[in-house]
Amino acid sequence: MKAQGLPWLSVVALLVSLPYSSLLNMETFILDYSSRNLSAVPPDLPPSVQCLDVSQNRIWTLKKHDFHRTPRLHFLNLSWNILEDIHPDTFISTPLLATLDLSHNSLKNLSHQQYLVKAQNLQYLDLSSNLFAVMALGYEFSKLMKLKWLGLSARIIQNNNFVNVSDLHLQTLFIQAQDLTVYENGSLTGAKSDKIVILMPSNVFDLPIIVDALTSFKQVELRGLYNPEDFLGILVTRKVRIQTVNLHLSSVWSTWKVITALTNRALMSTICQFSMSNLTLYDMYGDYFVIQGYSLDSFSIRQASVTVFIFNQLSLYDFIINIPARNLTFAQSPIVHMTCPKVVSMIQMLDLSDCVLTENVFKDPLGECNTLSNLEILVLKRNNLRQLMPLTSRVQLMSSLRHVDFSQNSLTYEETQGRCNWPSKISHLDLSFNEFEQTVFKCLPTALVNLNLQNNHISAIPANISGLDSLKVLDLTANRLLDLPDCLGYPKLQKLVLRGNFLHAPSTGSLKTCSHLTVVDMSMNPYICTCPLREFTNLIDEKGTLGGSNSWKYQRITVAHWPDGYRCSYPEYWRKAMLKNFSMLEITCNAGLLAVTILVPAIILIIAVGILCQQLDLPWYISMIWKWTRAKHHARSSQQRQEDLQGVHFHAFISYSQRNANWVIGQLLPKLEGEDSSTQNGLRVCHHERDFIPGRPILDNILHCIEQSRCCVFVLSSHFVQSDWCHYELYFASHQWITRGMDNIILILLEPLPTYLIPSKYYQLKAMMARRTYLEWPQDTAKQRLFWANLRAALQADLPDCGEREWE
Ligand SMILES: *[C@@H]1O[C@H](CO)[C@@H](O)[C@H](O)[C@H]1NC(C)=O
Ligand SMILES: *[C@@H]1O[C@H](CO)[C@@H](O)[C@H](O)[C@H]1NC(C)=O
Ligand SMILES: *[C@@H]1O[C@H](CO)[C@@H](O)[C@H](O)[C@H]1NC(C)=O
Ligand SMILES: *[C@@H]1O[C@H](CO)[C@@H](O)[C@H](O)[C@H]1NC(C)=O
Ligand SMILES: *[C@@H]1O[C@H](CO)[C@@H](O)[C@H](O)[C@H]1NC(C)=O
Ligand SMILES: *[C@@H]1O[C@H](CO)[C@@H](O)[C@H](O)[C@H]1NC(C)=O
Ligand SMILES: *[C@@H]1O[C@H](CO)[C@@H](O)[C@H](O)[C@H]1NC(C)=O
Ligand SMILES: *[C@@H]1O[C@H](CO)[C@@H](O)[C@H](O)[C@H]1NC(C)=O
Ligand SMILES: *[C@@H]1O[C@H](CO)[C@@H](O)[C@H](O)[C@H]1NC(C)=O
Repeated sequence: MKAQGLPWLSVVALLVSLPYSSLLNMETFILDYSSRNLSAVPPDLPPSVQCLDVSQNRIWTLKKHDFHRTPRLHFLNLSWNILEDIHPDTFISTPLLATLDLSHNSLKNLSHQQYLVKAQNLQYLDLSSNLFAVMALGYEFSKLMKLKWLGLSARIIQNNNFVNVSDLHLQTLFIQAQDLTVYENGSLTGAKSDKIVILMPSNVFDLPIIVDALTSFKQVELRGLYNPEDFLGILVTRKVRIQTVNLHLSSVWSTWKVITALTNRALMSTICQFSMSNLTLYDMYGDYFVIQGYSLDSFSIRQASVTVFIFNQLSLYDFIINIPARNLTFAQSPIVHMTCPKVVSMIQMLDLSDCVLTENVFKDPLGECNTLSNLEILVLKRNNLRQLMPLTSRVQLMSSLRHVDFSQNSLTYEETQGRCNWPSKISHLDLSFNEFEQTVFKCLPTALVNLNLQNNHISAIPANISGLDSLKVLDLTANRLLDLPDCLGYPKLQKLVLRGNFLHAPSTGSLKTCSHLTVVDMSMNPYICTCPLREFTNLIDEKGTLGGSNSWKYQRITVAHWPDGYRCSYPEYWRKAMLKNFSMLEITCNAGLLAVTILVPAIILIIAVGILCQQLDLPWYISMIWKWTRAKHHARSSQQRQEDLQGVHFHAFISYSQRNANWVIGQLLPKLEGEDSSTQNGLRVCHHERDFIPGRPILDNILHCIEQSRCCVFVLSSHFVQSDWCHYELYFASHQWITRGMDNIILILLEPLPTYLIPSKYYQLKAMMARRTYLEWPQDTAKQRLFWANLRAALQADLPDCGEREWE
């Protein structure tokens, strides 16, 4: 209530009302000690405190040192205490004190407020609702040169009471006159203030104080008028000159007769702005008419209610709508209808918000309303409107209409409602917080510049809308759009707001049709941070300009609320991350690139393998390694069968043609038996030149050797197939293999041996060569190591240790 004069006080009051604990964190600039049953100002106030609220306690005195350590104090609320006495030096250490609320205390002598001498910075001083007998302001007030807001109360107001503040120029003088018993005519005229607010004596109508207020102050607010008379009429009959320009009556309890009389008198007086709020009408008797020939700048009634049930509502509506005021407000009242003015009205701004009007508003049995032809601004927000098309018919003859607000209703538009009939000049249309779907675009005025469709159910913008050539601002906040619209229907669009829609990976291409667009707001959308979004984020540069990058050559569009308002909603990994920070590797998103990156290495690999095969005989190595692993495996798996090896003394018996003896003796034997005989791994080889027992028949020797060897190694060559001995050896070996069931024949191909070179008696060899793989002797020395390793692996086996050979 009292904070009205200085708007910042309400901010302070808000801060003061914050919980104590959270305020402590703000370096104790603000301290709230209200309602703590304190009997004195707390002694331990921190020196940094700037705002202190100790209201609603039981403080009865302020002592000299209460504030001596709080030099920065500029706001002090001591209201609702029991203060009787304030030491003259209380505020000697608080030179910045600007706001002091001492209302609702028990101070007694308004002529004797010496502490004010030390508080010369005061701008706001509330001394209302104390126990002052007379409103005699002492000399201390004359020093408060900065004072703008002064609140007072007393039981007696007399002439010359304000003589000591006659030099001050207040903005607001608040007189709490509820306990007033004596008012001397003309007392208030001594005060100087732009505005006077009088809380009227309860339940008594006190005329003289109203008379003084209206003759001395330009702005007057009278609160708590209980059953007032037509005081304006009385003044006119007494020929008193009213000075007031702006009269506001609040919390009025009255009759329709008095309110209509006051309104007519206000029309005839100097008053330009007449307003009422919290108006209760307890009697609606009578049918009253507006006086003609006068006008007001503005007339306003808010929060009106009627306590009688049956009355002529049309008479009420007719009276209100026919008031000749440029601005007319009848709001926050439960009216269901408003009529059309009888004659062409001067109303330019009509505010009927927060009522229960339907789309039959202004409807006349004779036709649509044509007398509101000067109306420029129409506000019907928060009513009970449902269908848009009938409403356009209601306003179609309001030819000056520019600005229409139908927000916060339940409006819809379907083509079944019929064609819309908007007047031609509407440039601003507010249809926010309704239930429109995309069909609403078929029912829009053509001269539209600014269209607000916030909080509707629009999921797409129809492709072939037309006639919105002037549209510059389109607000689609909190709708259901899935993608960015294009601007084909409204090519001049400059600002597009798509905040809080369902955009997840907008395709910016459609914005290329918006050649005049300068601002687009796409914040608070559920962006899905996957590949398709990259295209979008890549177009927005650091500073939040769409088209800042080179790839967009059309225009530069500011992206509002970038980057804070743009966050990923999915996938989980990116959730809540800013789009600014979102990135994905080029390769994961570009299918062509992905193919290239897979194919190129693959092709290179194939070529490399091909070259390797050609140059390095890779297949040979691979087959040798394969054989070697097989042999290793075979050796290991046949390891168990120790009993099969009973009587076996040699790892191998070598069968070769004498012509290949050089190779066998020079290379094979040393490699198998180990170059130096100390090698543990040396294989035991039965070599007939060395191991054959002399004197025995050669065949015996051969047989013996084959029997005692685990394997037979045949060194095949063109010479081999010409040797008879070799043939025998092969025969015995294959026989041995069949009887023992052991895989014990190894073929070494010393030189290429085409099958046709093999004589027909070697059919066994042919079969073997066809069936089993053989080891080829490589000419390349680099490959020979592998050959030996392979051969050794094939022959390697744990033979029973025999030490001495039995025939030696
Ligand atoms: C002081 O406190 C009272 C109650 O706590 C409150 O109503 C009043 O507005 C406050 N005064 C100012 C100037 O904020
Ligand atoms: C306030 O304090 C007084 C004494 O200091 C005590 O008698 C009274 O009960 C207290 N009131 C409340 C509401 O705590
Ligand atoms: C009020 O204060 C003035 C000035 O100190 C004094 O003359 C007067 O007697 C006081 N009135 C009351 C009722 O205490
Ligand atoms: C105004 O101040 C003077 C002293 O400067 C004092 O004598 C006089 O009583 C004051 N007037 C009122 C109405 O208190
Ligand atoms: C004060 O004004 C009222 C009417 O406003 C009048 O009836 C009364 O006689 C006046 N009193 C004095 C003392 O002038
Ligand atoms: C409205 O006015 C009535 C008196 O007519 C009063 O009792 C009530 O407190 C007022 N309400 C507000 C919110 O000012
Ligand atoms: C009338 O209404 C318009 C638009 O709301 C406003 O700008 C203007 O200040 C108002 N005039 C008065 C006198 O209230
Ligand atoms: C717009 O397009 C729809 C179908 O896409 C069609 O039914 C409608 O007639 C078109 N409206 C206009 C005005 O061209
Ligand atoms: C975005 O990246 C910046 C650094 O570039 C970092 O400071 C910031 O915390 C990141 N924000 C989010 C929400 O990940």
